[in-house]
This record gives sequence, structure tokens and C-alpha cells, in this order.
Amino acid sequence: MADNYLEKRMEQHRAVAGAAAQKPKHTLYSLIEKNRSTRLYDTSFVVREDQLRRIVAVNSRVASARNRQTLRFRLVMGDEAKSMLPLIKMGSAFKDVQLPQVGYEPNAFIVVCSTIEPRQSTYVDLGISVQSMLLQAVEIGLNGVCIMSFDKQQVSQLFALPFEPLMVLAVGRSAERVKIVDIKDGDNCDYYREDGVHCVPKIVPDDLIIK
Ligand SMILES: Cc1cc2nc3c(=O)[nH]c(=O)nc-3n(C[C@H](O)[C@H](O)[C@H](O)COP(=O)(O)O)c2cc1C
Repeated sequence: MADNYLEKRMEQHRAVAGAAAQKPKHTLYSLIEKNRSTRLYDTSFVVREDQLRRIVAVNSRVASARNRQTLRFRLVMGDEAKSMLPLIKMGSAFKDVQLPQVGYEPNAFIVVCSTIEPRQSTYVDLGISVQSMLLQAVEIGLNGVCIMSFDKQQVSQLFALPFEPLMVLAVGRSAERVKIVDIKDGDNCDYYREDGVHCVPKIVPDDLIIK
């Protein structure tokens, strides 16, 4: 046997094993792809408080204008979540479907509030916050949807919120079949249902680049 043969084989083996161990379970792209706005939920799965807390925890690490960190989060579960349902509007592009659909309602929400009078940078913070939370939800096997069409006054009253609510995030285990449809710049962007599948048109990367 040639000199160093066994040593070289061992080295190769270690390199392959090391590469496999380092391969991430999720890539950022795969998390983003799975992060589809979800409006039908598996009601047999009850979201736990520790899951909501883990989702909110990303806010302790994300960017924030002048690092002011003016967003606060109210967790909503159980009976409270039931009272949230009439106050939110989901999928308003669907004229013939009533959402949240009976039997597929979300059972957990995170209400994102601002401790200050919202200004432009507050809404940038809001976008960073909710996208980060949704990606964290996907990483732990959940999905969600950010909801800006909600009754602000009623939500404030119902939960006796000390701050202005800007967004409601529904969270749960998805019961929805979703498909991304590649479209060209200028094509219709409206989402639609086809054979029970929720279709989300997205502009192809090439057409997003300014030529
Ligand atoms: C700022 C913002 C507000 C939104 N508000 C609502 C809403 O009130 N109700 C709803 O069902 N979806 C809402 N959505 C979800 C969008 O409809 C969704 O992102 C879009 O249809 C594309 O689908 P996707 O998230 O799966 O890519 C909102 C999304 C954003 C970014």
C-alpha cells in the first residue's frame, strides 16, 4: 500500500463528514420561499406561548432606526385570539371567499405597537420586525401573515393597549397549499386561487434590476 494511503483516506472522510455537518438545515432563501402569507390554519395545532416568545425575541437583534427600538409586542392566544377574529381582514383581494374561513382560523396573534407617534422610520422598523418574526416562525415550522387591515380602535380597547397598534401578525401551522408563479415586470400581480392552491405571482429576478 502506498505511503500515507490510509491517512489520506481518513482526511477525505473527515472533510466529507465535516461538510455534511456544516450544511445548514435551512438556507435564508428556503426560509423566504416558505414564508408565504398564510390565511388558512390547522386549528388542531395550538400555538404555544414559548413559540410566540421565540418569534418576538428576534426583535432583540434586528436593525432599528437610530437604534431607538420603539416597537412593543402583545401576545394574543386562547379566548383572546377568538375575539381578534372579527377585527381583522384577510385576503381582501378575494371577493367571494370569507376569511378567516370557519374551521381554519388562526389561534395566535402578535400585535405590534409603537411607543411613539409613528413616523417614516417607524414603518421601516415595522417591516424589518415583521419579516424577521415571520422568518423565525417558518424556522420553527409555523407560518403567518402580517395584517394591516384591522380595526385599530377596537383592538386597542379590547387588549387595553398602552401604545398604538400598527400591525397584527397571525401565527399558526399552515393548512394552505401555496405556489409561487413567476411573472414578468408589468404582468398582473394579484394573488388568486386555482384548484384549491393559493397562487402568488412574483416578478422574476432579472426584471427587478434596473437596466
Ligand atoms: C404592509 C403589508 C400589509 C399587509 N396587510 C395584509 C392584510 O391586512 N391582510 C392580509 O390578508 N394580508 C396582508 N398582507 C399580506 C400580503 O397580501 C401578501 O404579502 C401578498 O399577497 C404576497 O404574498 P406573500 O406574502 O405570500 O408573498 C400584507 C402585507 C404587507 C407587506
